[in-house]
Amino acid sequence: MSNKIVLLPGDGIGAEVIYAAKDVLEAVSKKFNTTFEFSSHDIGGIAIDNHGTPLPNETVNACKNADAVLLGAVGGPKWDNNPSDLRPERGLLGIRKALDLYANLRPVKGFPKLLHASPLKEEIIQGSDLLIVRELTGGLYFGQPSERLDNGNAVVDTLSYTKSEMERIIDKAFQSAQLRNKHLTSVDKANVLESSKLWREIVEEKKNDYPDVTVEHVLVDAAAMKLITNPTQFDVIVTENMFGDILSDEASVLTGSLGMLPSASLAEDGVGLYEPAHGSAPDIAGKGIANPIAMIQSAAMMLRYSFDKNEEAQAIEDAVEKVLNQNYHTADLKNDNGTLVSTTEMTQLIVDAI
Ligand code: NAI
Ligand code: MG
Repeated sequence: MSNKIVLLPGDGIGAEVIYAAKDVLEAVSKKFNTTFEFSSHDIGGIAIDNHGTPLPNETVNACKNADAVLLGAVGGPKWDNNPSDLRPERGLLGIRKALDLYANLRPVKGFPKLLHASPLKEEIIQGSDLLIVRELTGGLYFGQPSERLDNGNAVVDTLSYTKSEMERIIDKAFQSAQLRNKHLTSVDKANVLESSKLWREIVEEKKNDYPDVTVEHVLVDAAAMKLITNPTQFDVIVTENMFGDILSDEASVLTGSLGMLPSASLAEDGVGLYEPAHGSAPDIAGKGIANPIAMIQSAAMMLRYSFDKNEEAQAIEDAVEKVLNQNYHTADLKNDNGTLVSTTEMTQLIVDAI
């Protein structure tokens, strides 16, 4: 079986880290004697420059015909003043919608060697290991109308969900909790938002279907506080699109850097897309110092979820841990006693460890 992988490097450090992940997958393919077939396509700012649109049809078709998609990141100051349909982020939102990638899974696990790399106290983050399940194709980022009104003196964005959109992500979260430590924290703003009230009702209904999972409701503002004061209380967190976006960047602090956080975006059935939680980092793009680990761990998630290759995924994760244990680190990970390495050096160390 050929494993067709579409690479969407995108902009900024996206392109730097995606080729790191490809090198690592090639090392896996040698070790385990499997074949991956890669093709690269444009998305985001580079697609605007080359094709006049952030999401060319050709890119969408290539993704639909692939077994899995790896995405770097999109965006950058060059396109910041573009009109909204010519913004790189449109490409990202568009491909998530086109592939119906409703479930974004973001595992957050502190590596023992990186406890000191976080600005949080070691005793707070020690043992933290959680999974954020974020709804990805609904809510504020997609709701219409979203526009300026009254000659620019007023504005509207729309938070809208159907009941079935909520049900499928909540089911996914319960199922994820069953595979982990069987505790689900549902995050909403049910004291204010109508959408959150329905969300909470659905969680209450669904919990009868998953009697082995304990459920807790936490308001999003309190959840933001608890995530960095007592993160070990969490196992699986489920929440809507924007809350999940914000909480997962916050949770990256537990791992020491945004450059450590992978993610999987899954459809009900169909191709999955795997991307780091970080963006295109224009402040460090082109310097060769980006941390490739979030992207590399995203490739490991791809092997696990899209190709059912658990041993291969584990080989990548073990290699990453081994290299970190040897005290190598990229510039984003504070480590006074370690060896500072570049993107390509970190990648090569991981390749060698595989
Ligand atoms: P960002 O995630 O790109 O960067 C935030 C900070 O973290 C920066 O200081 C950056 O240098 C650092 N950082 C991020 N990833 C890193 C890595 N792998 N290694 C070392 N340091 C890393 O978020 P920011 O600055 O808010 O956005 C920059 C651009 O990226 C914007 O155009 C934004 O729209 C876009 N973006 C794209 C995303 C995507 O494609 N999935 C997600 C988030 C932002
Ligand atoms: Mg984000």
